[in-house]
Amino acid sequence: MGSSANVVINRPISASVHTEAFRHNLNRVRELAPDSKIWSVIKSRAYGHSFEAALQGLGSTDGFALLNMQNAARLRESGWQGRILLLEGVFHANELALAETLVCDLVVHCEAQAEWLEDYKAHKPFNVFLKMNTGMNRLGFKPSTYRTAFHRLHAAGHKMHHMTHFANADQIDLLPTVGSQLEIFNEAIEGLEAPTSSANSAAILWHRNALGDWVRPGIILYGASPTGNYSDIAHARLRAVMHLESEIIDIQELQKGDRIGYGGRYEAPEAMRVGVIACGYADGYPRHAKDGTPVWVSNASSGGEGVICPIAGRVSMDMLSIDLRGAPNARIGSVVELWGDHVSVDDVAQMSDTVGYELLCAVAPRVPVIIK
Ligand SMILES: Cc1ncc(COP(=O)(O)O)c(C=O)c1O
Repeated sequence: MGSSANVVINRPISASVHTEAFRHNLNRVRELAPDSKIWSVIKSRAYGHSFEAALQGLGSTDGFALLNMQNAARLRESGWQGRILLLEGVFHANELALAETLVCDLVVHCEAQAEWLEDYKAHKPFNVFLKMNTGMNRLGFKPSTYRTAFHRLHAAGHKMHHMTHFANADQIDLLPTVGSQLEIFNEAIEGLEAPTSSANSAAILWHRNALGDWVRPGIILYGASPTGNYSDIAHARLRAVMHLESEIIDIQELQKGDRIGYGGRYEAPEAMRVGVIACGYADGYPRHAKDGTPVWVSNASSGGEGVICPIAGRVSMDMLSIDLRGAPNARIGSVVELWGDHVSVDDVAQMSDTVGYELLCAVAPRVPVIIK
């Protein structure tokens, strides 16, 4: 995704990223987890929002958690002097020197990483987040091998932390439950004095007993729901950080029975106006969005406040069409919001059989980011 500097915007689409909303959401996390420090998770270009915007909006976080060394280096170059956690640790032994230079905290999740660290002659101890697999079966030491790994790295002088990750903190009945994972975690770390980190966004919202010393929120910092359903986070009073906006670039007058776009999926039930918007799947908008997916159109109602219009017809590469029957004032140049304050990204995701995470991360590099 391009940054706002020196971008000449001709095609009207843009993703405006609101740093004030970042600040608000980070404060909400602090209220929800007042005794924990916060790793703000900014992998995948800060869930599509750009590192620059995250740094500006989340600058009062206790640390940033991300995936790879290049991005850690970028954060340092941008002036970030606080903590950085490499969420999957190093991928090869030869990255440890750079991790040390960049002063990164390391996740250590497997035997190979533990050996690399033992063999490495560190000038200063690393902050190590030793990861336990408590049932998600993605990364982490089995509880049976965890204590040995902990003792070894502790003996090598590193500053140890306990870490695990929940598979179903956003669900009630799915296995493994947060309760079952926590039980395994707590039993395995008993007597091993070290700070803990386990809670992702869903656990912060719904599992107060799982907060630990360091929480690791991602999606809620961006104002979207871990469940994919916006109503589930309405109580948390979060704000959408990204507003994906564009304009109506053409208006078609259809007769009853006319069809719209590729495949002719939508058939006009009566004479109607259809707005064509400069946004398509090559911008990251989901091609699978169904007819009826909401789009907000500004100044379209008589009150001038804007109105929701449904998508009509299949989303194509650069454009999508909306039914303007509820928006008699809409015209070429009317501003539309694909997601943001008026339309939750979760609602678009639901209409496209996916989750907000995927849509935010998929916003295309050709969409300019405007940091506000
Ligand atoms: C280890 C780890 N912690 C925290 C997070 C943040 O998750 P969420 O965005 O659901 O809060 C992620 C993201 O997938 C993760 O991989």
